[in-house]
Amino acid sequence: MAQLGGIGGIFRRKSIGQIQSEHEHGELKRSLGALNLILLGIGCIIGTGIFVLTGRAAAEFAGPGIMISFVITGTLCAFVALCYAELAAVLPVSGSAYSYSYASMGEVVAWVMGLLLMLEYGLAASTVAVGWSGYLASLLKDMHIIIPPALTAAPGVLVKDDMGHVIATGIVNLPAIFAIMAVTGLLTLGVSESATVNNIVVAIKLTVVIAFIIIGSRYVNTSNWTPLIPAQIPAPPPGTPMDIWHQIGRALLDVVTGAQNTKYGVGGVIHAAAVIFFAYLGFEAVSTAGAESKNPARDMPIGILGALAVCTVLYIATSAVLVGIVPYASLDNPAPIATAVNVIGLGWFAVLVKIGAIAGLSSVMLVLLYGQTRIFYTMSRDGLLPRALSFVHPRFKTPWINTIVVGIIACGASGFMSLDSLADLSNVGSLTAFAIVCITVIFLRISAPNLARPFKTPLYPVVPILGAGMCLLLLLALMAKPETRNFFLMYLVGGLALYFLYGMRNSNLGKGILVSGHEAEPMELPGKGD
Ligand code: ALA
Repeated sequence: MAQLGGIGGIFRRKSIGQIQSEHEHGELKRSLGALNLILLGIGCIIGTGIFVLTGRAAAEFAGPGIMISFVITGTLCAFVALCYAELAAVLPVSGSAYSYSYASMGEVVAWVMGLLLMLEYGLAASTVAVGWSGYLASLLKDMHIIIPPALTAAPGVLVKDDMGHVIATGIVNLPAIFAIMAVTGLLTLGVSESATVNNIVVAIKLTVVIAFIIIGSRYVNTSNWTPLIPAQIPAPPPGTPMDIWHQIGRALLDVVTGAQNTKYGVGGVIHAAAVIFFAYLGFEAVSTAGAESKNPARDMPIGILGALAVCTVLYIATSAVLVGIVPYASLDNPAPIATAVNVIGLGWFAVLVKIGAIAGLSSVMLVLLYGQTRIFYTMSRDGLLPRALSFVHPRFKTPWINTIVVGIIACGASGFMSLDSLADLSNVGSLTAFAIVCITVIFLRISAPNLARPFKTPLYPVVPILGAGMCLLLLLALMAKPETRNFFLMYLVGGLALYFLYGMRNSNLGKGILVSGHEAEPMELPGKGD
């Protein structure tokens, strides 16, 4: 390991060998094979993004061009997934991107990555809980059980019915809080039980999505697909060249300068791509299970790329059918896929879609919260977070205190923040994290050229450079919104201050403590084992 004194210590790095040895001696059960990893990935990917946000992104930003948005974001995620696969095969540890940064660019970058991953996993779980709440309220209404609408949304959020009409203003999102509490309970009981539940739920979710595509495709009215990209609103100034290349150039310029008008037009398609980026989040959650995978060098790339490929195909097909059945303008409601099915007169199928969505979204919350706890676990074992976060329950073999802490934070966010704010913030955090992952691949290829790499990103360095560049573009599109930008910057500055006040001083690496699974025996109070 590299130890640096003084302020230079913020760039101290773990050696790759050390990280690999931590994997050898880890305490978590290694029970997951390739298929489990793919299912873990799908379990995390297909969720609120496709079941809720797609409707809003089509109605507000892209129109039928939402199909193109899915292709753009799918391509970006493929680039990033290839980078993840390379790193995950070399460093199969539970901390995921956080550990990759620790071994390459140093401790302070790892800390920032930890902050970003909290947005990507913790806040994303809350985002999904809000989507879950929308589908639950809609299903219960079908059964004539009415949850007071004001109790199904965060304070100040306008609650809409299935047809998009405003029916109340929110006070607190109680079903979302309940969902997070239930998932936290499951996770506290243990990963293998949770993985079994996950596999069943993934099967239900896939059935619903595939059935929607097959049944729905018979009702597609292709005139709903034209124009593919509706004209920008308000129209560009007279005399603006309108051919597609000018439009693309103009949209990119607007995104980069933060001056974009994102209602339809090419700019709208790019903005929608940034919003539905959330739908792809989770393919890399497979990498957080590195320490629990049986043969990570082979199975990690299969798990990450396999899950992403399946979901990309399903997303493009689902969005095509969705905007083909219903005119895009009426899709901004809490359960757009079910609404589409209702519109074609298949009430019974709408109920099944809602049940499938509720089950499916549960599995997404499970994997996201699981990922968040494993990141805290690793950071705690490194001394960067309090030691209690890596205490492992003697019977359930799970980091139970950590899981409960994560659950409480996620409950708060899901009950009191709006879907849009939550999704935007998790997108911003994830896009930044993904860009760092792409850069890490380049960094490691240069700084450790002889490292044994069981899987290599093809077309190096084009793929990581394109991956990082596309992340930056979508990031800029989201940061044009002042609330998102201000929150994100304050979060990063506050988080960095915590590093200097706590993390830097308590880092095991800084103190010269080598952490293996056995040395990191849990149940030590902070400070005692140091
Ligand atoms: N991709 C996941 C979802 O859409 C996070 O819910």
